[in-house]
Amino acid sequence: MWERRGPPVWRSELIVARIRVFDTTLRDGEQMAGVELSLDDKIEIAKALDELRVDLIEAGFPASSDIDFKSVLFTAREVSHAKVVGLARANKRDIDMAAEAEAHVIHVFIATSDIHMKYKLRMTREEVLQRAVEAVEYAKSYGVEVLFSAEDATRSDREFLAQVYRAVIEAGAKYINIPDTVGVMLPWEMEDLVRYIRSKLPPNVNIDVHCHNDFGMATANTIAAVRGGANGVQVTVNGFGERAGNAALEEVVATLHFKMGLKTNIRLEKLYEVSRLVAAKFGIKLPPNKPIVGDNAFAHEAGIHVHGVLSNPLTYEPIPPEAVGAKRRIVLGRHSGKHAVEYVLKHLGYDPTPDLVDYVLRRVKEVAPYAKRVTEDLVRKIVEEFLAERTT
Ligand code: KIV
Ligand code: ZN
Repeated sequence: MWERRGPPVWRSELIVARIRVFDTTLRDGEQMAGVELSLDDKIEIAKALDELRVDLIEAGFPASSDIDFKSVLFTAREVSHAKVVGLARANKRDIDMAAEAEAHVIHVFIATSDIHMKYKLRMTREEVLQRAVEAVEYAKSYGVEVLFSAEDATRSDREFLAQVYRAVIEAGAKYINIPDTVGVMLPWEMEDLVRYIRSKLPPNVNIDVHCHNDFGMATANTIAAVRGGANGVQVTVNGFGERAGNAALEEVVATLHFKMGLKTNIRLEKLYEVSRLVAAKFGIKLPPNKPIVGDNAFAHEAGIHVHGVLSNPLTYEPIPPEAVGAKRRIVLGRHSGKHAVEYVLKHLGYDPTPDLVDYVLRRVKEVAPYAKRVTEDLVRKIVEEFLAERTT
């Protein structure tokens, strides 16, 4: 039933074999308020990300703490597939620490928006430009790949931004990143900005985007950026991150694959498992309606929907749950109909005779508003009630 999709609805203007997936769950994701990961947690997550086949793992910010330093070091030594990234401000000490932590890629960043330069860095545009170039050259002197991010790029003057990117590419940066640091962009603005930046840079430059979710636009903006010519996406599992978080890996990757016909190296069938592991380690319960990996992403209760899905899943499921490692759930409740009850009874090993189905359906509708969730145990109790009534 779940056969090949038709031709892709849309293709990136950029001819790319695959979109690069840069995961920053262990760096930007861990900056989420109230979250502390142990070194063991970080290594376990890094291994799972490697198995998921993200292309780059930003394992930490080595100059910021011993745990982050070791996280980059041990991850760089242990992973088999991904390149491991260490974050560094545009200064010698941070870059030295990232290099000492054996990062395969040093991620140098400095802010380029007037507001950050004036109030945070207290530097002029000329100084920032010079510092960015020197930092990239210095990181490059370690013989590693260098990624350069212009923090707050989306609130920066476009011409200045393009000038900075051009200069760092000349200085040896292999990738440049366009962060929407405070999540202020709209999708069409993001697409336009990326297209503009690409038009100002040498052909085939690697452009990442890094979108925050302050207005709930992170996934949409990331997708729009790819449409504008980005060939790398910076994401976190479950969208975990500072404030309202980052673009969610599972949403972005599923959209690229299923909606845009674009490929990544991600093993889609592992998305659910990795999402659960990261949620557990972060100590965060996912909202049930979370796209792709939430408990309800492939759950159906309403009678019409259940009937439809049981006849042909395409009626109410945009993608097959198994494709992302999830499972379809048929949930009983006040909105259920006979098909759902039959299905659940069979699933629990009962013979769904018409009398039993009618009884269970009636009782479910009565108890659901009080029980809140009609669990499998509750259904079993209702069946026992039915059997007891029959024998008396
Ligand atoms: O949001 C941001 O600007 C960042 C940079 C360090 C890339 O996380
Ligand atoms: Zn960020």
